[in-house]
Amino acid sequence: MTTQHAGLKAWVDEMAALTKPDRIVWCDGSAEQRAQFTAEAVRDGVLKPLNPQKRPGCYIAYSNPNDVARVEHLTFICTPTKAEAGPTNHWMAPDEAYTKLRGLFDGSMRGRTMYVVPYVMGPLSSPFSKIGVEITDSVYVVLNMGIMTRMGKPALDMLGTDGDFNHGLHSTLDCNPERRFICHFPQDNTIWSVGSGYGGNVLLGKKCLALRIGSYLGKKEGWLAEHMLILGVESPEGQTTYVAAAFPSACGKTNFAMMIPPKRFAGWKVWTVGDDIAWMRTGPDGRLWAINPEAGYFGVAPGTSFSSNATAMKTIEKDTLFTNVALTEDGDVWWEGMGAAPERATDWQGRPWTPASGEKGAHPNARFTAPMQNNPTLSVHANDPQGVPISAIIFGGRRATTVPLVIQSFNWTHGVYLGATLGSETTAAAMGKIGVVRRDPMAMLPFCGYDMGEYFGHWLNMQAKIPHPPKIFMVNWFRQDENGKFLWPGFGDNMRVLKWILDRALGRVGAQETLLGWVPRDTDLDLTGVAVSDEQFAKAMKIDLDEWTEELESQGELFDKLGATLPKELALQREILRAKVARVRDTA
Ligand code: OXD
Ligand code: MN
Repeated sequence: MTTQHAGLKAWVDEMAALTKPDRIVWCDGSAEQRAQFTAEAVRDGVLKPLNPQKRPGCYIAYSNPNDVARVEHLTFICTPTKAEAGPTNHWMAPDEAYTKLRGLFDGSMRGRTMYVVPYVMGPLSSPFSKIGVEITDSVYVVLNMGIMTRMGKPALDMLGTDGDFNHGLHSTLDCNPERRFICHFPQDNTIWSVGSGYGGNVLLGKKCLALRIGSYLGKKEGWLAEHMLILGVESPEGQTTYVAAAFPSACGKTNFAMMIPPKRFAGWKVWTVGDDIAWMRTGPDGRLWAINPEAGYFGVAPGTSFSSNATAMKTIEKDTLFTNVALTEDGDVWWEGMGAAPERATDWQGRPWTPASGEKGAHPNARFTAPMQNNPTLSVHANDPQGVPISAIIFGGRRATTVPLVIQSFNWTHGVYLGATLGSETTAAAMGKIGVVRRDPMAMLPFCGYDMGEYFGHWLNMQAKIPHPPKIFMVNWFRQDENGKFLWPGFGDNMRVLKWILDRALGRVGAQETLLGWVPRDTDLDLTGVAVSDEQFAKAMKIDLDEWTEELESQGELFDKLGATLPKELALQREILRAKVARVRDTA
């Protein structure tokens, strides 16, 4: 397979001249080629087949132990000026980045195969989709891209002879953190990634194109590229309402996107459109319409079980790649939080493991890569070129204190403020300390491809572009009591909160005004059959003025950091809330 696209041909030649591979293979996306690549990967020890009786078509891969998560400190936005990247991104001047990485790429594929991977982010033939081509020397990347994107010939067909495409170049090198860089050049629609084999750093369609470059294109072209799941809730009457929800990495987005409603909600169904990324723009009807640019799930394995996410467990029964999970003696996978531990296994570093070994069998950021077509609750609109209309946007973080279970913003600007000040405790999805609260505006801190203050401004500007905007909400499934016990059961019971959100979005249920926003009155949220006492629920919803005084101080750190580009409206929202909290405290 080759292409009639002269620009693509010339670029591939140029990259081959730089990286000097032994051979070049164009990926056509066919089942035959996938089988061939898989056999080669098994032969070369990149993949190990799992027991075909237990997990047909499934394989396990291990990454280098120094390469198990995204590396935010080595991820750069390479814009002509530092100001364009903004104070929350690492910046490198484009010339410097190209020179440095060219040095690393020079001859990097000697003795290796260079794979050319054309792919589409978004449904085929959707006017909202974008095309990328990733050049890589990793067959693991090729096989993952084949699941996560619409890959191969359909992408070249869509590209035609002169279409625009994202230029992605990846080489694993020797997987040395000293020689690891993930560089984005938004103005050139280019991504260069070296020295890593970990998904978030190297599956360039995902975080790099769909979010960092995507957010830059979204600002330029008037749409939103967001770190959001998309789901549809179908009522027993057959009406489906769609929501998009942003949560920082490893906060249960995949679980929420695949939620199974509790018994109380017999007849209700949740349909998954996407579990990680939403591209949203205004439709002809004036509503906000969303597509999921991905075609698969790159989900966190630990904690996934038949009780936390039965849908995901069914999705990964076949044709799935597992990375850094434990391998059982009968050739199946296991991870912490999946259920009963095997007596013996091989851990993610290939060492013998038993439950007594005191080490994790799977890495906390171990992943599954599964085709969305495996999902038994996949929305019929997941491949719809138009996407789905969004009635509510939800922001959520992992907060042990302070943030109530659910609130609705007063209006769009206030909703943007709620998203902009989102805080969450850090998780294993990125390198660094775990469990520290950090501001993660709209869950986009690691993924916004330009200045964060400008990004907030873009969100505010979108209001005028969406005649019928979705309502905006904030949730926190993770609040704890004074003994560290979760106050809300989460998982399927989140349906109760979601139902109130939908009813609010459709103007069907009441609410009570508080300092922070609208909240459900006692009778508005259906708590029948849930193991939450009135006292616990009150604690989950509590607005604690001391906690909020501290919270508002801490929000100020982000706002100060953003400086001049922080929209005035958002600074004012914070000032108003500070004044309100102070007044209530003083009069209490
Ligand atoms: C992811 C992440 O992999 O957010 O989705 O880290
Ligand atoms: Mn994510």
